[in-house]
Amino acid sequence: MKTIVYYYSRTGSNNYLAERISGKLKCEKEEIRPRINNFFLFMLKISAGVKAVKNNPSDYDRVIVVGPVWVGRFIPPLKGFLKKYREEIKNLYFVSCCGSGDEQKDEKFGHGHVFREVKELMGDKCRECVAFPIGLVVSEDKKKDPDTIMKTRLTDENFKGEIEERFDKFIEGVG
Ligand SMILES: Cc1cc2nc3c(=O)[nH]c(=O)nc-3n(C[C@H](O)[C@H](O)[C@H](O)COP(=O)(O)O)c2cc1C
Repeated sequence: MKTIVYYYSRTGSNNYLAERISGKLKCEKEEIRPRINNFFLFMLKISAGVKAVKNNPSDYDRVIVVGPVWVGRFIPPLKGFLKKYREEIKNLYFVSCCGSGDEQKDEKFGHGHVFREVKELMGDKCRECVAFPIGLVVSEDKKKDPDTIMKTRLTDENFKGEIEERFDKFIEGVG
């Protein structure tokens, strides 16, 4: 089974997660590069699509896409990538290191909305959507502190305990 990880990351956490996944699965990792990589334009829902990737998704049995959630949205780099390569992708795993926790997934800014859109777009090709909420790596008393959630990034130091268990389970499921 050939697998590839495509990722988009603005502040590093999803890059870190993508790196860990590709390291564990010993597979390729490639960045999703928007034609215009401008966060403020993305916020205004303005996007010019994504550049062609070097590794064609059709050459892989499994495609893992990793990236963040902003204001409850399926962000343009990830949506642009999946729209462009929908036909080429055989099996998709969608993964996000995001701010919303499991219990907030269906709230206004929760990752649940994004996962539903991904499933709608990809249909049966979508095997699994998995969230790695930042709250899993912050201390109990800071889990509900928005400032801490927004500022915390995944690192070797904090990627332990619950998040690591979720990661191992995900790898097992893909493997
Ligand atoms: C402007 C902005 C808006 C965000 N909105 C949400 C949101 O609605 N839901 C959510 O789960 N996380 C949200 N987040 C948190 C990001 O998904 C989280 O910080 C993610 O790990 C960043 O990924 P990156 O470091 O790979 O760029 C937001 C972050 C930013 C900067």
